[in-house]
Amino acid sequence: MICFETHIGDLVFEFFKENQKSLLDITTSNLSIKKISGINNFFTSQKQADELLRKIKAQSTAVTEPDRREYGDFQTNQHLTQKVVQYIFSKSNDFEFVLEPTCGKGNFLIASIKQSKKLKKVVGVEIYQPYVWETKFKILEYYLVTEVDSKPEIDIIHANAFEFLYEELAENTRNLKTLVIGNPPWVTNSELGSIDSKNLPKKSNFKKHSGLEAITGKGNFDIGEYISLIMLKCFDKHNGVFGFLIKNTVVKNLIQDQQRNKFRISKSEKLNIDSKKEFNVSVNACLFLTDLNSEPDFTCKEYDFYTRKIVTTFGWYKGKFVYSVQDYDESSVIDGKSIFIWRSGVKHDCSKVMELEQVNGYFKNALGEEVKLENNLTYGLLKSSDLKEHKTSSFRKLTIITQRKIGQETKYIKERFPLTYKYLDSHKEFFEKRKSSIYKNKPSFSIFGIGDYSFTLYKIAISGLYKSTHFTLVSPNENKPIMLDDTCYFIGFDNLKMAEIAHYLVNSDIVQKFLKSIIFPDAKRSVNKDILMRIDFEKAFENSDFEIAKRRIKDLEMSDWKKFGEIVKDEATEQLQLF
Ligand SMILES: C[S@@+](CC[C@H](N)C(=O)[O-])C[C@H]1O[C@@H](n2cnc3c(N)ncnc32)[C@H](O)[C@@H]1O
Repeated sequence: MICFETHIGDLVFEFFKENQKSLLDITTSNLSIKKISGINNFFTSQKQADELLRKIKAQSTAVTEPDRREYGDFQTNQHLTQKVVQYIFSKSNDFEFVLEPTCGKGNFLIASIKQSKKLKKVVGVEIYQPYVWETKFKILEYYLVTEVDSKPEIDIIHANAFEFLYEELAENTRNLKTLVIGNPPWVTNSELGSIDSKNLPKKSNFKKHSGLEAITGKGNFDIGEYISLIMLKCFDKHNGVFGFLIKNTVVKNLIQDQQRNKFRISKSEKLNIDSKKEFNVSVNACLFLTDLNSEPDFTCKEYDFYTRKIVTTFGWYKGKFVYSVQDYDESSVIDGKSIFIWRSGVKHDCSKVMELEQVNGYFKNALGEEVKLENNLTYGLLKSSDLKEHKTSSFRKLTIITQRKIGQETKYIKERFPLTYKYLDSHKEFFEKRKSSIYKNKPSFSIFGIGDYSFTLYKIAISGLYKSTHFTLVSPNENKPIMLDDTCYFIGFDNLKMAEIAHYLVNSDIVQKFLKSIIFPDAKRSVNKDILMRIDFEKAFENSDFEIAKRRIKDLEMSDWKKFGEIVKDEATEQLQLF
């Protein structure tokens, strides 16, 4: 900390902090310092002691800054703030009031002040005192070198954005054309939790999530989202614009929750920025712009910030939250309920032992050991990365399928497959080390994601890890079904022709368009069971043509086609995997 124009080390500063009462009287404090260090007359006037006391007090009301991580501190560079401000003012140039709720070093405020001479009021709020000073100094510097006829009234406030009374500010600025601008912290409450940060709003369940959702991860929210919501809540009845640099996921949430919040916002735009270039971070982020005080709107146009090329229009359409309004419009007929249950593949959490390769008549595990096993319980295994082909019946890896259904007793392995049992038993510590509670009190060597459906011969599979919506037809290898791992989803058939028709349908233009219209590319697991279960096979079938399918599926007979049509029409058959 700087005091008396010099740096005071942490240890000395802490010393004075602990003994601050003694600073009220320099005779007492000089005596105690002499006792410790031998220095005479440490303070030569009471004024000096008072000055130090003042600094200590100021410091203790401010937040200490051990780690800027908890403040989601990514200052926006001047070039970007200027471009953002120019873009916003190109749409409307009569703003009177500019507010930046977490203003940092003030680059947005300076850019706005430079952009418009019509501003009447400027307010910046920032938790980190040095940034408050930096912003003030920059503004002062600007006015020292720039002649202007009139200046806005400016408040740069050292405060916590979570405690600041925005309602009051909103009330006082009700009649001013408003620009709420900025770049709130890019950090989530769970990231803050992991570093034991207190930089959180008091009511962290602000989105009214239930306890369960909070536990399962939906209660994880971005601080930037919280501040955006506060701004919209306080200022959506002001004439003006809201423009924040935020993570793409936050914009998605804002538009998704708009159905419930019904903020008076419209003409929303999401302009994608290159965060690597601008902030040197790998986070998908954008400028979110929306008009305030208008009839609530529920969609958002997405563009590239630099080229202004349109990407999509996403949001609420026909009662659904979709990524592409246009694609959804052309394919919404497919949106229904899948008659086939999409499953995820086998889960064992024990890849060192359970993932094998075949080498020279032996199996080799991931520990590099060569082992001998009966072939009965070993099955080919495909992972997400193996699902690039249109069709496959080969595999690189194998796995041991110890159960045919969840919870099945595994004692039979000892008697019937002694080599396999010996191998598993000699590696049992790997199974016992598995952390997930799903394995607790279950038979030895238990696996999950297993059932009759796993043994179907033909599978239509898709990766849950990648963005691709392409499906692979997986056929048996030497009459033995191939398994998928738990990163994949699939539906299974025992009849090749039925599988081929299903495969053809899920890869058809209309189903692909439908999937692309509802999948948000930014989402972590963009392809998931919920999405796949929305494929209405009956509608996909009705919208396809036998003659075209015949060109794609070898030896397809009309009878097979009709049979498939009957199956998918059979609403009563909820769960259909085996024919
Ligand atoms: C992503 S930076 C952006 C700064 C500035 N708006 C800009 O665009 O350059 C986020 C800022 O929020 C500040 N901040 C973090 N938590 C805050 C809080 N609770 N109250 C006020 N400001 C906070 C950080 O110190 C940091 O300056």
